[in-house]
Amino acid sequence: MPETPATTALLQVRGLGKSYGDVPVFAGVDLTLAAGEFVALVGESGVGKSTLLNCIAGLDDADTGHVSFDGQDLSRLDDDARAQVRRRRLGFVFQAFHVLPHLNVERNVALPLLLGGASAAGARARVAEVLDQVGLAALVHRMPAQLSGGQLQRVAIARALVHRPALILADEPTGNLDPQTAAGVLDVLHRQVREAGASCLLVTHSDAAARRADRVWRLSPSGLFAT
Ligand SMILES: Nc1ncnc2c1ncn2[C@@H]1O[C@H](COP(=O)(O)OP(=O)(O)OP(=O)(O)O)[C@@H](O)[C@H]1O
Ligand SMILES: [Mg+2]
Repeated sequence: MPETPATTALLQVRGLGKSYGDVPVFAGVDLTLAAGEFVALVGESGVGKSTLLNCIAGLDDADTGHVSFDGQDLSRLDDDARAQVRRRRLGFVFQAFHVLPHLNVERNVALPLLLGGASAAGARARVAEVLDQVGLAALVHRMPAQLSGGQLQRVAIARALVHRPALILADEPTGNLDPQTAAGVLDVLHRQVREAGASCLLVTHSDAAARRADRVWRLSPSGLFAT
């Protein structure tokens, strides 16, 4: 079972299991992620990495087990309280981006700040900073339909980091990027972990990305294992 030697667990998962109908995806997943840790999650296509991230974030319901975040059991919170935790403390990079098509780049990235109560004017400087970090400073006013796949992916990453979340869950955030841009995006994620004391769980098929993590976990049908 992948455990952390540190005493301060930001995220603790116990006995998590999930099936779609009669088809089990994973079972018996245990993990502990400490504040400031960067962990890569690897495993074959279809093994359930995205499903696991969604269950951790409370975007999907596991069938068994518990997820606790900052010592709070998320399954005991009502939907509103869970949404609050997600909005304030979590940054999620979706495998399919989920950039909103009717908002320009700047507004997509500002969303977590606006949902957290910031004014548009108050959000602007931080949005500019994070767009600069992912190399999109020149594209703030573009609409998503006018962006390449890799640019859309970087909008999704900027949006996941803009509110300085305690936990970043990133689902193949470098999957569509050339090696140089991918390395730049990993730099941004690592910097957020280092400077803000955030933790990151990064799903990746990239050996280069996994090598830069503190630890690597492999998901298999029988559970999660340290490699
Ligand atoms: N809504 C759904 N209904 C039924 N089965 C689903 C659903 N979503 C995912 N699955 C199945 O669950 C399994 C796990 O899917 P998941 O997307 O979590 O895999 P993954 O490890 O992220 O794969 P990849 O590396 O290709 O992104 C797959 O076999 C998939 O077909
Ligand atoms: Mg996936």
